[in-house]
Amino acid sequence: MGFVLAAAGSAVGLGNVWRFPYVTGENGGGAFLLIYLGIVFTIGVSVLVAELIIGRSTQLDPAGAFRKLAGGAWPLAGYMSIFTAFIILSFYCVIAGWTLAYTVKSLTGSVLNPDTEQAGSLFNAFITDPFEPVLYTALFLSITVFVALGGIANGIERAARVLMPALFAILLVLAARSITLDGAAEGITFFLEPDFSKVTWATFLAALGQAFFSLSLGMGAMITYGSYMNRHDDIAGSALTVTLLDALVAFLAGLVILPAVFAFGATPSAGPGLTFITLPSIFAQMPFGHVFSALFFALLAIAALTSSVALLEVVIAYFVDENGANRKKVATIAGAAVFVLAVPASLSLGVMSGFTIGGNVLFDAMDYVTNNITLPLGGLLVALLLGWVLRHKGEEEFLDGSTLAPALLGAWRFVIRYAAPVAITLILINGVGIL
Ligand code: TRP
Repeated sequence: MGFVLAAAGSAVGLGNVWRFPYVTGENGGGAFLLIYLGIVFTIGVSVLVAELIIGRSTQLDPAGAFRKLAGGAWPLAGYMSIFTAFIILSFYCVIAGWTLAYTVKSLTGSVLNPDTEQAGSLFNAFITDPFEPVLYTALFLSITVFVALGGIANGIERAARVLMPALFAILLVLAARSITLDGAAEGITFFLEPDFSKVTWATFLAALGQAFFSLSLGMGAMITYGSYMNRHDDIAGSALTVTLLDALVAFLAGLVILPAVFAFGATPSAGPGLTFITLPSIFAQMPFGHVFSALFFALLAIAALTSSVALLEVVIAYFVDENGANRKKVATIAGAAVFVLAVPASLSLGVMSGFTIGGNVLFDAMDYVTNNITLPLGGLLVALLLGWVLRHKGEEEFLDGSTLAPALLGAWRFVIRYAAPVAITLILINGVGIL
């Protein structure tokens, strides 16, 4: 139970509440939701199982685990993980900074606005400012490093076990409010009724990337969690529970944001600001909206904190376990390095928006490269390792400790050997548009 909650704490974060609704909005709604859930419950849950097996069987950090299990060039996958964790953390803490800012601004009431257009202008003025969001990013990152340094990560996790159900409860209340707004029906249709006419390879790539990001896969994080499991802990059951919880929170967030988008006359493809633009308008129309809003953004910040600490831990564990580096030194240096990258990421939404990489501002480029390239690649490597290098040893591990596993063995083997490698390769090649 403790393990499941810890892994769910890492999975549930900004990916569910901030990223999922806006990516769904950008990719046409219902059809994306269906493709997303399809990927999550085939490739996603199977790769999660694979990462947990790697961790539980070696009791090592990702690079060490790859070396022990396969040797050769496999530990290189570890470098990709560090790179990915760095980049994700650099934009993750910018968004997490926004949640801190919105906690404060909810209390003063300055962001609650029933007019979504005005809420949007306020949001834009805030994120394009060269100083304020950077200060909040620095604050959030400092808290992350402090938690990692102080060894109080366990304390935060324990607190999160109480607070995450609270976040879930508020999401339920908000969903009820959102779907009963005048004009919400169009948004409900958009979210739940698949329209396949706009589906392309890019839709599949976006769904694949979102699935890996949301489940914290493809970068060794779940290998690390697996290494904390006991020998005979139930891997299949835990993976299913974590996947269900994560998908449920994302689904609920979609049900909060997208109906409101249509009810308020906003555009679903508005991008990363979607959550921050629609929520203040929902809160503005609720009794005690200020209190609810502050509470919601504070809980979201805490959900983000459990994720950011886990992300930083990927970097720390690598340098400490592999190079025997000093934990405090690594945490401080890594935190500083992340900040150096986070500042231009934040500024790229404002004063530095003229600087683009392949047509994307820095923030979008960082998001694209990690979610749409390195995470799926990492997942592909994990599937190949389990399905082809380890084979029977992996299957023995899969069965060990789980009453559920025997019934699922055939399906899991098929996905990890054939379906996942083929699908990820096809989606990557066609979605990225190399060929
Ligand atoms: N899953 C997290 C979220 O949805 C983000 C994330 C991606 C993450 N990779 C991770 C968190 C690794 C912890 C560890 O917000």
